[in-house]
Order: sequence, then C-alpha cells, then structure tokens
Amino acid sequence: MNIMKIMANKVTKVMGNKGNQIEILHGIDLQTSSGEFLSIIGPSGSGKTTLLKCLSGLVQPTSGTVKIDNQLLNNISERKIAKLRRTKISYIFQSYNLLPALSAFDNIVLPLRLSRQRINKTKIYQLMNSLNFKADLKQLPAELSGGEQQKVAIARALTMKAEIIFADEPTGALDSTSRQIIFDQLRQLADSGVCIVMVTHDIGQAAQTDRALVLNDGQVMAEVNHPTEPLLISAMNETKKAII
Ligand SMILES: Nc1ncnc2c1ncn2[C@@H]1O[C@H](COP(=O)(O)OP(=O)(O)OP(=O)(O)O)[C@@H](O)[C@H]1O
Ligand SMILES: [Mg+2]
Repeated sequence: MNIMKIMANKVTKVMGNKGNQIEILHGIDLQTSSGEFLSIIGPSGSGKTTLLKCLSGLVQPTSGTVKIDNQLLNNISERKIAKLRRTKISYIFQSYNLLPALSAFDNIVLPLRLSRQRINKTKIYQLMNSLNFKADLKQLPAELSGGEQQKVAIARALTMKAEIIFADEPTGALDSTSRQIIFDQLRQLADSGVCIVMVTHDIGQAAQTDRALVLNDGQVMAEVNHPTEPLLISAMNETKKAII
C-alpha cells in the first residue's frame, strides 16, 4: 500500500528585501506518496528549487502548509526538523553543498555519523564504483571536477536510507552514461518504496518517472501521469501558449 508522504496546500513564497519583494510561488498544491517518483520540470527561474526547499522544510513558505508523514512543517522546531533530516529525508542540492574541509569520503558518511549509524567502507567504495566515480575518495571537494562532486552529493543521499529523497537536478553536471546510472538507482529506490521528488531539465528522464509537474512562473501549469516525451513536450508548449 502506498502511504502519503508529502502534502502541500496553497504554498506561497515571497522573497527579496523590504521594498523589493516578489512572490516566487503562487499557491502550490502537491501530494505524493511512498514508492512514487515525481518529477518537476520547468524553465530556469520558474521556482523549482524554491518549491523543493519548501517541501523539504529547508525553507518556510510565506503562507500555505507542508506536511511530511502528516507532520506539519510550519513553525516546526529546529530540533524536530533536524531529526526529520537525520531519519527520513535526504536532499541532493543543485549546488552540491559539500563541506570544503572534509574529504569526499567524509562528506558521504556525514549523515551516517550524525545519526550514529555504522559505516560500511566496502559498501561505500562499491557504491562509488557503481556510480562510475574514478577519483580518490580522500580528496577534498575542491580537488574534484563538478561531475565528481555531484556524485559525492548523490552518494551522501543514497547511503542514508531515507524514506523521501529530494533531488535538485541531480545529474545536471554529468555525462549521459553517468546520468542514466544515477537515474536507474533513483528509479530502483522508488520501486522499493522510497518517495522521490526530482527537479530536472531533462525531458527524457522526466518521461521515465511516474508523474511530472510542469512549473512555470511559480505555478503548476500541468500535471502529466505516466509521462512520455511527446506528452511532456506538448504540456510544456501548452504552458508557453497559456503565458503568451
Ligand atoms: N533568496 C532570494 N531572493 C530573491 N529572489 C530569489 C531568491 N532565491 C530565488 N529567487 C528568485 O526566485 C525565482 C525562482 O528561483 P529558483 O531558484 O527557485 O528557480 P529554478 O526554477 O530552480 O531555476 P533553475 O532552473 O535556474 O535552477 C528566480 O527568479 C530567482 O531569481
Ligand atoms: Mg533550481
């Protein structure tokens, strides 16, 4: 049975300084359950990252509500949100968010250390092999290429057995082979019951998810169940027409 994992109601987000404020999200409703692979597509600046941050509790919406496992995230204490991140949620950042002073290996195992879980070094080396990671795990993030840093960020999220994975363009810096390898890992996790919400520019990848939302200018313009590339392209074209 699929269990409801995320429920967002009328989420808005206003950003900017006093006197120069803009509403970036205009009342977004979204629900997703365990085992579902949801993708969010849309042009640059449409609010995808902001939405993902609101859904995961990294950022508080200006109005509206977000619930994870029926727990309201609005005004949740720092302690509770930290616990949620240690136990249930993984977030793959668009900008990787690796700690510069820690080696690649130490970055990967950081969530395990924080939650006092056992670290299986062999498993981590196997995972990195399967991700086609060729660099040395003792290196610092600054000594790695963008794609290698992205793989470290992905591995950090995958080693933690999260129930929900938020992934913000997780394969943007990768070649097509690595992109497919990582996508397949996420697909397998969804098939084993993990709820995945992935932002992507890649229509081909979105077409392999269970449902796609087309975001434009802070609004969900279309929702495509069992998406295919032609369905997504036509949904995006309709969206453009609606805006012109
Ligand atoms: N802290 C902030 N202050 C003011 N405006 C912001 C802030 N963060 C984001 N924005 C604006 O909000 C809009 C949406 O940004 P967001 O990063 O969510 O877009 P995105 O869809 O993820 O774009 P991309 O595909 O380029 O990653 C943009 O116009 C951006 O300039
Ligand atoms: Mg973004």
